[in-house]
Amino acid sequence: MPSSRSALPHGKAADVRAAVCHTYGEPEVVTVEELPSPPLGAGQVRVRVVAAAVNFPDVLLVADHYQLSVPTPFVPGSEFAGVVEEIGDGVRSFTVGDRVMGTLMMGGFAEEVVAGAEGLLTIPSGVDDRHAAAFGVAHRTAFHILRSVAALQPGEELLVLGAGGGVGLAAVQLGAQMGASVTAVASSVAKLEAAASYGASNGIDYRGVDLRASLRTVLREGSDVVFDPVGGELAEPALRSLRWGGRFVTVGYASGVIPRIPLNLVLLKGCRILGFQFRDFAEHAPEALARNDRELWSLLGDGSIVPHIGAVFGLDEVANALRLVADGRAVGKVVLDIAATP
Ligand SMILES: NC(=O)c1ccc[n+]([C@@H]2O[C@H](COP(=O)([O-])OP(=O)(O)OC[C@H]3O[C@@H](n4cnc5c(N)ncnc54)[C@H](OP(=O)(O)O)[C@@H]3O)[C@@H](O)[C@H]2O)c1
Repeated sequence: MPSSRSALPHGKAADVRAAVCHTYGEPEVVTVEELPSPPLGAGQVRVRVVAAAVNFPDVLLVADHYQLSVPTPFVPGSEFAGVVEEIGDGVRSFTVGDRVMGTLMMGGFAEEVVAGAEGLLTIPSGVDDRHAAAFGVAHRTAFHILRSVAALQPGEELLVLGAGGGVGLAAVQLGAQMGASVTAVASSVAKLEAAASYGASNGIDYRGVDLRASLRTVLREGSDVVFDPVGGELAEPALRSLRWGGRFVTVGYASGVIPRIPLNLVLLKGCRILGFQFRDFAEHAPEALARNDRELWSLLGDGSIVPHIGAVFGLDEVANALRLVADGRAVGKVVLDIAATP
């Protein structure tokens, strides 16, 4: 995700409502307040936010457990959709009234956001604001990984951990769309049902089972690609499911535990362990990023991919929305309906 300004906005006189994190901690530290409308600089666009979506890194930023630390106070929120309200000097790509979606390090949980024009994308006609807001982080992360990092091929076996979460369910959808056979691993019936409805042909509820043995039963020939946004105890049995020459992509550690993998497994399997971090991919692979985004936007625009929205909250309920994600209970994406908030 591209970074943005780190302080609270101070600009125009009119106030806007926004979620604010004054001290690091649990989701409940986030409050909703009136703040001055953010100032607009050259090359920037002011967007009236209609919907925003919650991502696990929002929880980590509020707790100060993310790779980067953001000074308090700050407005959390890493993806949003809305309507262009004002254009800064030098902006040619948008006009007032355009519907746009964007991703930021923070600032999205507010009635207004100011973002660099280069970070905004036009919402395809026919896609509503909630689904546009829920698309930018999870589906882009999953698609860049499957397309460019894992180079998933039609007919391959894809194993997805955390398959009912935001990024995991996006990987299930996109993997199935790319012609892979998808095995979903998750902790509840509801999550596995969601994964099945988006194309997973196998589902494993890992609670109380020996995951390594379950994977052997379900994937007799092994997997080609493992997509892991969870880490912890699930990572090693998932890696053991790889057939010779397979690829394991480490995406995140929602379990809170960074796994340690015995390197002999890599030797024995002739497999590759790969990593992905969005901002590094954007910096080091801009051509692949642009190509993938074009392909992904076409899938969004023609209705081939519709993000799964598991829960919707008002801006006033932002702490509850963050809590649902923090506890790993969200199915698909959690959305804040900012426009519906009084
Ligand atoms: N590399 C990147 O560029 C990038 C981009 C976006 C996100 N991420 C990372 O990807 C991970 C998933 O993000 P997300 O937005 O998909 O999150 P999410 O919707 O909350 O899903 C995370 C999943 O992790 C599992 N989980 C296991 N233990 C958990 C725990 N103690 N607390 C919470 N969840 C737990 C849950 O699945 P089960 O209940 O089935 O175990 C949950 O559905 C995060 O670590 C995030 O930071 C990385």
